[in-house]
Amino acid sequence: MTDSLAQEIRALLKEHNAILLAHNYQRPEIQDIADLTGDSLDLSIRAAKTDAGVIVFCGVRFMAETASVVSPDKTVLMPRMDAGCPMADMITPEALKAKLAELGEMPVVTYVNSTASVKAHSTICCTSANAVAVVNSLAEDEILMTPDRNLCQYVASKSTKKIHCWDGYCPIHDQLTDEEVMKARAAHPEALFMAHPECRPEVLALADAVLSTSGMINFAKHSDKASFIVGTEEGLIHPLQKANPHKSFYGVSESMVCQDMKRTTLDDVLTSLRTMTHVVKVPKEVRVPASMAVERMIGITSR
Ligand code: 13P
Ligand code: SF4
Repeated sequence: MTDSLAQEIRALLKEHNAILLAHNYQRPEIQDIADLTGDSLDLSIRAAKTDAGVIVFCGVRFMAETASVVSPDKTVLMPRMDAGCPMADMITPEALKAKLAELGEMPVVTYVNSTASVKAHSTICCTSANAVAVVNSLAEDEILMTPDRNLCQYVASKSTKKIHCWDGYCPIHDQLTDEEVMKARAAHPEALFMAHPECRPEVLALADAVLSTSGMINFAKHSDKASFIVGTEEGLIHPLQKANPHKSFYGVSESMVCQDMKRTTLDDVLTSLRTMTHVVKVPKEVRVPASMAVERMIGITSR
């Protein structure tokens, strides 16, 4: 059944000159059929470089918006429009403007896990991998970082700048406790603990490495250690295991599941390609300033 579904999807992708993108947290069967897998920004940048006219994005809404910002001439489809990100929805452009009015004008560094309209009101974007470099690249000594307070506090611990943190958080990473980490460490004393910077400071304090999802895949590949405790959404264990078949990966806690990331099924991908829905198109007045914030970041990290 899944095989014939996969074949039909691949045939429709070819017919529509489309490319299938899957974030590292997607269901294994979605990742296995995708043309590209990876973290959100990396996927959008790689997809922009292809000749495909259509991008089918299996992830959450802000990721499809980023693809539309980076590839305005391509059609971007999202199989499930109800796949959102609670953290991205913890800030609006209006609330951001109000905060700046209260704090005074200062550069705004916005994590890519945000809506295009919030990016459009930001000075520069950052990812979990380059946030420290982005913040340190700015001439100003006082900045506001949005929307993730945990990533912000992590960056603040590595920078001498005065950093104001927006009070948003990822509900999946933020609920992980240091007790759960210690329990996992006791169960697997030989394993290294890799944590995503969306986790709380007390969890990051216990980590052997603080990394983005792609950073974890790289780290595990190049480490001489054979086992790892994975401090992020459980979907990452699939690409970790695929890239490192002889190593062992243990989820840090059973509660690390993002329901939004799990919404998209193979049936949804098929329907999306049959009906060419749901189109995600960021309007020009948002796309142009959002793209400037993304491009500024790319300029800094490719220096
Ligand atoms: P990455 O950019 O590290 O893949 O993270 C995406 C995400 O949604 C983290 O919760
Ligand atoms: Fe958003 Fe967290 Fe889900 Fe990532 S894991 S999409 S940050 S809710």
